[in-house]
Amino acid sequence: MTKRTPDATPPLPRLQDDTLLIEQGRAPADHYGAINVPAYRASTFAFPTTADLAATRSRSYAGYSYGRAATPTSEALQDAVAALEGGAGAVVASSGVAAIATALTSVLGAGDHLLVADCVYGPTRRFCDRVLTRFGIEVTYFDPAIGAAIGRLFKPGTKAVFTESPGSLTFEMLDIPAIAAAAHAADATLINDNTWGTPLLFKSFTHGVDISVHSATKYIGGHADLLLGIIVANARSLPAVRTNATNFGVCAGPDDIYLALRGLRTLSVRLERHQRNALALAEFLSTRPEIDRVLYPPLASDPGHAIWQRDFGGASGLMSIVLTPGYADDAVAAMVDGLRLFTIGASWGGFESLILPSDPTRARTATQWTAGGQLLRLHIGLEDPRDLIADLTAGFERLRNAT
Ligand SMILES: Cc1ncc(COP(=O)(O)O)c(C=O)c1O
Repeated sequence: MTKRTPDATPPLPRLQDDTLLIEQGRAPADHYGAINVPAYRASTFAFPTTADLAATRSRSYAGYSYGRAATPTSEALQDAVAALEGGAGAVVASSGVAAIATALTSVLGAGDHLLVADCVYGPTRRFCDRVLTRFGIEVTYFDPAIGAAIGRLFKPGTKAVFTESPGSLTFEMLDIPAIAAAAHAADATLINDNTWGTPLLFKSFTHGVDISVHSATKYIGGHADLLLGIIVANARSLPAVRTNATNFGVCAGPDDIYLALRGLRTLSVRLERHQRNALALAEFLSTRPEIDRVLYPPLASDPGHAIWQRDFGGASGLMSIVLTPGYADDAVAAMVDGLRLFTIGASWGGFESLILPSDPTRARTATQWTAGGQLLRLHIGLEDPRDLIADLTAGFERLRNAT
């Protein structure tokens, strides 16, 4: 079978996102009419002749050669996500963290300097602090509210800026276009973790991002049953990302990729419901005396609302609440442990509602997290919001009664 590389895929006329989600990365005629690209469980692809084998060395071979490099399944997902987000191409990885590590190491080398937003996902910070520094890369964290003032942090060796907007746990919105302009003026690469925004709601490449990373474990998969990462890059950064991924042996299992492709087809309808439910919950939570702050940029009262409204085409269902200071740990435990519909769980982006008590204090160095109350991260799932509100209302009653 002739290989369909993302670069060789004939361009579709520019389709609307909802149509792209259905059409892109599918080719029934290439798969005996199967609507979905099957999960190709293939490490080895047969070469018809020794001449074909030789052609792989000169990169002129049109077929598949080895599963780690590409299969029709991996290419279908890469093709679909890259088209949706507007990148030149994509690479799948075994997890979101693997995607982040691959993106960072594709642009950084010994002696380089990296700027990182203070609100990034904890394991991203850990990778920067514990791995990149071991290889002689200097890391400086910056206040997520910095905007264009980031320009003064660049040094001659600054090669990359890593952002995540909204920030993990605390949901600060970053001015990505302003940061991108400063990065490009210094000839640095902007890498952005777009897991919350998804390739649908935040169009990384029209906002100046060079490399967009996703934990596809979250909304792209959408069903809490896979682990996957994806790196999408613009034309300038894609060759370095691909080469680095090849050198590190970055790839992912066919079943997870297949499930991610299946999840992707319904991303838009799921996100619409996540947003609707999350807004209803955020508005309810804003009225509760037990809550000091709701951290959710789509709320008009959120400090990041104007940037969210300017740059994003919608919202996903992840937010945090900060309880009014003074509740004891066992009262918070009574509230959380007794919830029936909110499961205590670390991931998000699936169909189900989740709750996660968290403490951002130790994961900030350029800024300080000074909220006195307990932070609870909430993922608002696809349940009926009236039931979710009733579950939390009963939880607040336990919180008050245990105090
Ligand atoms: C914002 C963000 N980025 C990246 C990751 C890492 O993804 P994975 O768990 O697929 O490695 C997560 C996981 O929670 C996340 O929340």
